[in-house]
Amino acid sequence: MSTPDFNDRMLSLGLARVAEQAAIASADWVGRGDEKSADQAAVNAMREQLNKLDIKGTVVIGEGERDEAPMLYIGEEVGSGNGPGVDIALDPLEGTTLTAKDMPNALTVIAMGPRGSMLHAPDVYMEKLAIGPGYPVDVVTLDMAPAERVAALAKARGAAPRDITVCILERPRHESMIAEVRETGASIRLITDGDVAGVMHCAEPQVTGIDMYMGSGGAPEGVLAAAALKCMGGQMWGRLLFRNDDEKGRAAKAGITDLDKVYTRDEMVTDNVIFAATGVTGGSLLPGIKREVGWLTTETLLMRSKTGSVRRMTYRNPVKA
Ligand code: FBP
Repeated sequence: MSTPDFNDRMLSLGLARVAEQAAIASADWVGRGDEKSADQAAVNAMREQLNKLDIKGTVVIGEGERDEAPMLYIGEEVGSGNGPGVDIALDPLEGTTLTAKDMPNALTVIAMGPRGSMLHAPDVYMEKLAIGPGYPVDVVTLDMAPAERVAALAKARGAAPRDITVCILERPRHESMIAEVRETGASIRLITDGDVAGVMHCAEPQVTGIDMYMGSGGAPEGVLAAAALKCMGGQMWGRLLFRNDDEKGRAAKAGITDLDKVYTRDEMVTDNVIFAATGVTGGSLLPGIKREVGWLTTETLLMRSKTGSVRRMTYRNPVKA
């Protein structure tokens, strides 16, 4: 019997359910100061829901290597086993600390595509740069200095550098980048975590106020962000960063030989994918989980890159007393 094709239209609604249930499961852990339990609850729920889908799924971006993660590890087979062979990139709770501290922009995130559609990024850092839709190709590049990127983007927008807002993860490693961007007069939105949301913010600058994302963060999160931008529009570039031989070994294991390669969005995500993210804590793109007596309400962004369609789905879930 031949393998059914990746039917992104039918599978997308199932994918939204997966993201929703992971968020619902983490709801009890919002603001409770316990990152681990919040993450575990989301992981358990995401796995349970994935296994209900009629797919032969393989986790290509997951919770870690097999020996590090008991569930949703890279290479884990998920789904009922009946249906198309698909690759899955996921982060059951992107922003575990944001959740534990009830700070903005924690999301549950999952992307799915045909086999071989997403870069098997090892768990290392990635230098990232992203902008929204409507700009000429390569108007900014990873090889430009941060100030040059601001100048180039401002020029392309017909604006002054001070009209540009850049989103950057607040980390000691970004101190000189932050100082250089400030020198240009641009504004910076510092985030403490959650660079998938940071990159996604670039796709809707009129809503989020963010024009560009730059800085290093997790490589797996980089691929998830590329999947989101492939659906929403916008450009992104990523270069893997290796701190030691162990990290280079992870790249070799993932089949990556050119360690200095700059990946474009479409080299990180090479085929059409579907993407779902549910807000756990409120942010500029998605509201957080709303609790009322007897109900939990979530909002999910569900997108297909083939059509560029974006759905926002509100789910009102009765909670047993
Ligand atoms: P977790 O959800 O696993 O805590 O990751 C959050 C995050 O902020 C990512 O969004 C980002 O890519 C990465 O951590 C940055 O890593 P680091 O904290 O080491 O700078």
